[in-house]
Amino acid sequence: MKSITRRKLINLVGKAGGYTAVYNTMAAMGLLPVPAYAGPPQLAPESGRGVRVVILGAGMAGLTAAYELGKAGYECVVLEARNRPGGRAWTLRGGDRVEETDSVQTVEWDRGEHLYFNPGPARLPQHHAAILGYCRAFGVPLEVIVNDNRNALLQHDLAFDGKPVRQRQVRGDIAGHLAELLAKALDKGALDETIGDLDKEKLLAFVRGFGALGKDFVYRGSPRAGYEVLPGAGLEFGTLRSPLALKTLTQSPFWQLTASFPDGFTQAATMLQPVGGMDRIAAAFAQRVESVIKYNAVVTRVARAGESGARVVYRDRNATETAVEAPFVLITLPLSALRRVQVDFSPPYQAAAAAGANDYMSSGKVGFYAARRFWEEDEQIYGGISWTTQDITQVWYPSTNFHGHDGILLGAYTWTHQIGERFAAQPPAERLRRAIEQGAKLHPQYPTEVAHGISVAWSKMPFSDGAWCEWSEENRRNAYPVLLEPDGPFFLAGEHLSNVPAWQEGAILSAHKAVTAIAERAAARKI
Ligand code: PHE
Repeated sequence: MKSITRRKLINLVGKAGGYTAVYNTMAAMGLLPVPAYAGPPQLAPESGRGVRVVILGAGMAGLTAAYELGKAGYECVVLEARNRPGGRAWTLRGGDRVEETDSVQTVEWDRGEHLYFNPGPARLPQHHAAILGYCRAFGVPLEVIVNDNRNALLQHDLAFDGKPVRQRQVRGDIAGHLAELLAKALDKGALDETIGDLDKEKLLAFVRGFGALGKDFVYRGSPRAGYEVLPGAGLEFGTLRSPLALKTLTQSPFWQLTASFPDGFTQAATMLQPVGGMDRIAAAFAQRVESVIKYNAVVTRVARAGESGARVVYRDRNATETAVEAPFVLITLPLSALRRVQVDFSPPYQAAAAAGANDYMSSGKVGFYAARRFWEEDEQIYGGISWTTQDITQVWYPSTNFHGHDGILLGAYTWTHQIGERFAAQPPAERLRRAIEQGAKLHPQYPTEVAHGISVAWSKMPFSDGAWCEWSEENRRNAYPVLLEPDGPFFLAGEHLSNVPAWQEGAILSAHKAVTAIAERAAARKI
């Protein structure tokens, strides 16, 4: 057979198929960098004409599905129990109300572009290409969220007299101590067999640099870990901090966890946030599908109807019940909330949904207004996160408007079920009292400087009933796969049906899968 050069082939393809064909061919030949994310499903225009899809929930999954299906001509009806889009992707501003099952709060601070608080999702990793792709397409402005700040604090009630230390200190000292140990073992010949043919001198030099050891391979602190007295002009040479004891740093998992947190795949720089609040993304979606969303529509019953379709009954603000029929129902409610809706699932499907409903994380957040940016002025903390072993777990500093005259702090973000439940059980005023008391161990200024606290306990938020699905190993293995498949006319989507749980990206990717599955079945029916 006559061979053909790559260039000739690509030319031929170009003549026959144009730019896209050339792009795809070059990508297939390994001649172009191919993005890992292939983009949203490309449904044929008009392919959904005359096909109705009822979507339960206008959170990120529901919005994504309505947008993509709508583009292909599907007749979507989105039923949203709340009076706004976004679901858990929500932003609070002055005057907003927080209604939990047994309390009502109002955000008391003034309105202002930078005066917002995200009680739900608040950051976007740079590799979450699906959500970032929509931000690009919709023109939602993004900015950096400072997720790693070496000058922020780590505070452990049982270490260093309960006094906070700076993150750089912990990270620098852990690296220094471990490098010194390794250098000693290498020097003694204890690892000769293990290192095989590695050049020991080169390895030692590497270890020394890695831990910032002295020429003698001893760790005595380093600029990475910070100074007791800062270097200045003239004869002010600066004094290094003496290292924190390795014994203390290794006796609690807290230090390892908090010091490595910003290295996590989903947490490492560059992290992003929409300018002005996380709800800007949901708002951009909603603007594009506004005409098909019914707000204040609480779904009460989802039944099978007709040969292969379904009937969804919802209640509006006036308690009037309406039924809507469709061949497809896409359910994006969290399983924890779906528990309250009567759905005609098959028994195994029902069991799987019920199992997942038990795995919801009971997370909560607190927001505070501060009339003075004391963390910047007094402590040179510009954005980032401080951590504590107390229940509040974290304090986040605003990533924008540095040196502005006021700002919003995140005063608690709980991360274990136990702490979350304890938090949820307290009335809002008690949550704030404790958040101030605990925050004061990080910042003594707290009691006099923070005000207008607001709290959200996700397990007590109607229509969410939890923060995110933290699948147990057993349920991930047995229940999760069941729910990935449709059950008759019922399809499911949401962060809980992804392997990127607790992220909006997971909700969007799972909506893409559901959209594709619905389109495939719709096409098969037409044949
Ligand atoms: N996405 C959430 C957050 O960033 C929850 C989460 C935390 C998920 C850490 C994974 C890792 O806070």
